Amino acid sequence: SLRIALVPAAGHGSRFGAATPKQYLPLHGQPLLAHTLDVLCGCADIDRVVVVVSPADEWFDSYRWPHAKLEVLRVGGASRALSVANGLAALALDDDDWLLVHDAARCCLSPAALQRLLDEVQDDAIGGILAQPVADTVKQGTKVGRIAATIPREGLWLAQTPQMFRAGLLGEALQDAANPVITDEASAIELLGHAPKLVLGEAQNFKVTWPQDLALASAILQLVNV
Ligand code: C5P
Repeated sequence: SLRIALVPAAGHGSRFGAATPKQYLPLHGQPLLAHTLDVLCGCADIDRVVVVVSPADEWFDSYRWPHAKLEVLRVGGASRALSVANGLAALALDDDDWLLVHDAARCCLSPAALQRLLDEVQDDAIGGILAQPVADTVKQGTKVGRIAATIPREGLWLAQTPQMFRAGLLGEALQDAANPVITDEASAIELLGHAPKLVLGEAQNFKVTWPQDLALASAILQLVNV
């Protein structure tokens, strides 16, 4: 069976607030997405890397992508889950093929964390994700910015990507992709009654979301590339 990385990159980056979607913002002289693709394409265990962009995307074609394994699908949808579901449907994979879905905006994923996921999930019956145990104390907030409750952090994890599942199982799970509770692949698999594996992620694999995140991503890439 093949291992295919699927990269949803069809978001608008509305929280980021820039005119250019965050996946195309410049980072060390390249679009942010290029750094994400460098890690996935550089992994010998990954056979194909497929980027899903919006049908209205005006940016992707304006760059030269030097990645030999790279393919692009212009089938992005209204939500991340729909972008992934559309991409998966367009690929017509074998049920046994592994899909590693990875956010375009997680450009600081390390090769070591990616390899850890591949190694720890390849023999798993369900699949799994990179995730980090919650380190901070978690508060439930009110609408007016007061603390309503403290949520015990014991056993809480923050989901990262890649999220690695068999194409057949993920396709079945994402038939419900329009369901708003599906905010990652694992949540769709959980709705089928399965318990995906948690594999230790890393702090540097954060999702560029807010404007100040770009400086942090830049600093991390600088550190890991020296
Ligand atoms: O918006 P958020 O940061 O959660 O997006 C996570 C990833 O999903 C990003 O890489 C974004 O480009 C992608 N996405 C997508 N289609 C959407 C919304 C988000 O491919 N409609």
